[in-house]
Amino acid sequence: MAILVTGGAGYIGSHTCIELLNAGYELVVLDNLVNSKFESVRRVKELTNKEFPFYKVDLLHIDKLEEIFKENTIDAVIHLAGLKAVGESVEQPLFYYHNNITGTLNLCKVMSLYGVKNLVFSSSATVYGLPDSVPITENSPLQAKNPYGQTKLMIEQVLQDLYQSDKEWSISLLRYFNPIGAHESGRLGEDPQGIPNNLMPYITQVAIGKLPELHIFGNNYSTADGTGVRDYIHVVDLAKGHVCALEKVWKTTGVDAFNLGTGKGYSVLEIVQAFEKASGVEIPFRVIGPRPGDIGACYADPIKAKINLGWQAQRGLEEMCRDAWRWQEQNPLGYETNKKDTTLKLDVLL
Ligand code: NAD
Ligand code: UFG
Repeated sequence: MAILVTGGAGYIGSHTCIELLNAGYELVVLDNLVNSKFESVRRVKELTNKEFPFYKVDLLHIDKLEEIFKENTIDAVIHLAGLKAVGESVEQPLFYYHNNITGTLNLCKVMSLYGVKNLVFSSSATVYGLPDSVPITENSPLQAKNPYGQTKLMIEQVLQDLYQSDKEWSISLLRYFNPIGAHESGRLGEDPQGIPNNLMPYITQVAIGKLPELHIFGNNYSTADGTGVRDYIHVVDLAKGHVCALEKVWKTTGVDAFNLGTGKGYSVLEIVQAFEKASGVEIPFRVIGPRPGDIGACYADPIKAKINLGWQAQRGLEEMCRDAWRWQEQNPLGYETNKKDTTLKLDVLL
């Protein structure tokens, strides 16, 4: 009896593994490490004092994937593996469609073959595109604005069709809003390659001195201070949402979508201020033009997850900022190496 976590070495996956292990589940973890390091898996084992098999396997290699199902008794899958950079998806659409969609098709084929029909899928608030109104409910119109978003929408459709063809499937589509923060131990966190695309890792890298200043993408939106508003959710709360979804998936059949957000929107300026307060570090910033494709305000109506999954985010903005900063301070080069070694490397970088 084990849960297969695809993408389990990644930012959300590693935190999800911790919560699953703490809840008493046995795990099998798969990741091709294209956007992560094995060190995160090692730290999950260290933090929980639990063992589990890790497979460095690409979902595109269906034979290798099948071996995992042969070697283990898998009862359910939490499927987080995928590429997630919006800009990169615009530049390399075929790469994104192939990786995210073919990878998921392979996974579903092998699951069917082994009679494993319980699935929790990492979708995204990106499936709402430009929302007509906020807060966004699960019934809001779906539209994708870039190839990455298309992959999430298409996979949601594939999973709906799969259930229509075989009513034994039980599938939760988790539409994440904006995960930030890190494990409170400071041992797990977000480790972007190169210059971060997302707000919080950009801020923490400015705070540590790796980047000179934050560029705020536009201050002319119809929001209280003109900067973009998002529903930031602590990654540990998000991880706990997977445990609740899994428990629901065991008990039912069907396909159901859930927003995983807090229901509160914060502007870029509010995030900068909250981070400065939590860290005691000033964040120099400059307002530049809006980022193409960005929207003004996006936040969830999370009531459906509360009613159906018994899940609700518990951690506030202060905790998100404090934990993001602890992770960055203790791991200035992410999972690359330990702090003692990185001080030297950081000197070279600066
Ligand atoms: P991440 O990049 O840290 O984790 C994804 C993991 O999947 C990585 O470890 C990567 O190596 C692995 N992977 C990618 N393609 C693979 C393949 N073909 N075979 C095996 N492994 C593969 O990203 P994350 O932030 O942890 O996101 C996890 C999931 O949540 C993704 O599907 C992402 O699209 C979705 N999501 C993320 C966000 C966010 O803001 N972080 C928001 C909404 C949805
Ligand atoms: N922002 C800046 N400067 C930066 C980075 C971001 O001002 O350097 C602003 C953005 O304009 C936006 C807010 O900060 O107003 C948040 O931006 P992020 O890039 O952190 O997050 P997004 O909401 O744009 O997108 C993220 C993921 C998407 C996912 C979406 C919804 O990157 O993949 O959340 O889950 F679809």
